[in-house]
Amino acid sequence: MNEAYSAVYCHIFNIMDFLKNIIGEELATFEKKFAESVKSQTPLLDRIMKYIIKRKGKQLRPMFVFLSAKLHGSINESTYRAAALVEILHTATLVHDDVVDESLERRGFFSINAIWKNKIAVLVGDYLLSKGLLLSTDHNDFEHLRILSEAVKQMSEGELMQIEKARNLNLKEAIYFEIIRNKTASLLSSACAVGAWSTSKDEEISNKMKLFGEKVGIAFQIKDDLFDYGKADIGKPTGNDIKEKKLTLPLIYTLNKITPAKKRELIYIIKNENKDAEKVRYVIDTVVANGGIDYAAEKMINYRDEALLILHQFPDSEVRDALEELVRYTTDRKY
Ligand code: IPE
Ligand code: IPE
Ligand code: MG
Ligand code: MG
Repeated sequence: MNEAYSAVYCHIFNIMDFLKNIIGEELATFEKKFAESVKSQTPLLDRIMKYIIKRKGKQLRPMFVFLSAKLHGSINESTYRAAALVEILHTATLVHDDVVDESLERRGFFSINAIWKNKIAVLVGDYLLSKGLLLSTDHNDFEHLRILSEAVKQMSEGELMQIEKARNLNLKEAIYFEIIRNKTASLLSSACAVGAWSTSKDEEISNKMKLFGEKVGIAFQIKDDLFDYGKADIGKPTGNDIKEKKLTLPLIYTLNKITPAKKRELIYIIKNENKDAEKVRYVIDTVVANGGIDYAAEKMINYRDEALLILHQFPDSEVRDALEELVRYTTDRKY
């Protein structure tokens, strides 16, 4: 392990250690509840659910649920159901997203569509969505359901808008932000809102946490889009966005900055030569040379700081510190 890598590793390790002290038990219980909630008697579904449970992700959203809950009261049974619901919905949308994006890798392994093909992946996503609904209706968690149904609606709108805009390569920055607010920030935002609601039952607090989560979510997706320009192993494909004609912030900024002739050249590549690795490399190099990466990173940090400003409206505590660390992790993470 080289020095730089070990420094990074220690930093992340420490954050996770700190979080484990505060919500470690809750996360362990959450994992059991999650597994229990997605169980199936149908053999094929049962096999796929076991695969999904084994290849778990970073579980950032449940962490946000628990910390947002703990910041405003004592964690209770409904908090656990909120965390499970959020992660079930997240998993369902990832399974569908990999079909839509024709992406064969997820969390360092094969995606569901890579192994079982699209037809089964679509149905698995639907199954997860319905299990999420049942988890809430079985326990009369209607407020959770209300908050999260809105998020699922926004996620579909965001994903659809992204496809629509991929056809028109003249994407404005404002539209990019609308897309990521819908497809990604909506769920993180709802995670913070349901968490806070589950312990406070206070609408004002819940709304403030929702806004906090939205800022974090936007920063989170800018980070995800920055990964696409890098070469690091993040457990899913990189360099995919240009291939998919997905314009993200570094490229949008660059296209608006360069000369009209250069812009036409890049757009031609994105439209007609997006499978040519050398041409794609040229687009990436142009983005880097024109400060597109730095610009996006700066915007990301601004959103992170706006989130922290909202968080700091609540009294200082160990839980608030932990939430702050988790926010910093979203923008400093290596995968
Ligand atoms: C991936 O989310 C999907 C996006 C919104 C970019 P995460 O990076 O949180 O995925 P997992 O759950 O850790 O795999
Ligand atoms: C993530 O979108 C999926 C949703 C937010 C619904 P992306 O397509 O940008 O993310 P990855 O890179 O596949 O995780
Ligand atoms: Mg995708
Ligand atoms: Mg996608």
